[in-house]
Amino acid sequence: MSELLKIENLKTQVEDKAILKGLNLTINRGEIHVVMGPNGAGKSTLANSIMGNPRYEVTEGSIWFDGEEITEEAVDERARRGIFMSFQSPLEIQGITVENFLRTAKSTVSGEPQKALAFRKLLKEKMDELGMDASYAGRYLNDGFSGGEKKKNEILQMSILEPKLAILDETDSGLDVDAVKIVSEGVGKFFREDNAILVITHHNKILNNLKPDFVHILVDGRIVETGGPELVEVIERDGFGRYKPEEEETEWKKEIKLM
Ligand SMILES: Nc1ncnc2c1ncn2[C@@H]1O[C@H](COP(=O)(O)OP(=O)(O)O)[C@@H](O)[C@H]1O
Ligand SMILES: [Mg+2]
Repeated sequence: MSELLKIENLKTQVEDKAILKGLNLTINRGEIHVVMGPNGAGKSTLANSIMGNPRYEVTEGSIWFDGEEITEEAVDERARRGIFMSFQSPLEIQGITVENFLRTAKSTVSGEPQKALAFRKLLKEKMDELGMDASYAGRYLNDGFSGGEKKKNEILQMSILEPKLAILDETDSGLDVDAVKIVSEGVGKFFREDNAILVITHHNKILNNLKPDFVHILVDGRIVETGGPELVEVIERDGFGRYKPEEEETEWKKEIKLM
């Protein structure tokens, strides 16, 4: 197993508020990792920090991808390296069809121009796999798409771009059971020995068709526990209540303890 992503002591802030507080995570090729945690724990912040969203400022620590440090790199450079992120709330773009959007994205990320016919063939293949109607390709990106259609579109984007690391931030939220099945099957088809997946989720539904190697619990900006798939069931049953956010050791508190 070779190392794909390595995050060391990552501290990230958003608008001067510390969110990630010293996070460590290593993902090897051929692994599926799941991150679960309560609302506001920093899950989307983690995804955005890996992707390089400039709104999330790294104040300490480092991010390594494929053996090279990328902590300071721009989003597009990371995309070219093979990092992909699906968004919790995808963009709607008027006037750009799904096909054109994906073709442009594929040319940009791969650095190779995509010939129209060959690309259309690839697109059709991937859409068939995901059970998407052919008319989909000609629609404007996310415009009037149902929640399920938007999510499927993200999975389509992932299978077209073939990243080395796919980060799915709550791709399962707001989906009905059938759509979750299609999404998780699509992710399953994408997954290979030479890539890796980081799934951020609230529920275990998406995990019915995906077997994670590692499950991490993220609370208050830190990974507080790492386990196997069995951890998903524990969380489903007991929630996150047993993970109390670590209290800051302030001077004031130290003095109180000495009294
Ligand atoms: N773009 C942003 N602007 C301001 N605050 C943000 C932004 N993104 C996240 N936060 C804050 O950071 C904290 C962690 O958010 P987030 O990473 O989205 O949590 P999660 O995905 O685990 O629910 C929350 O307190 C949230 O309010
Ligand atoms: Mg989130």
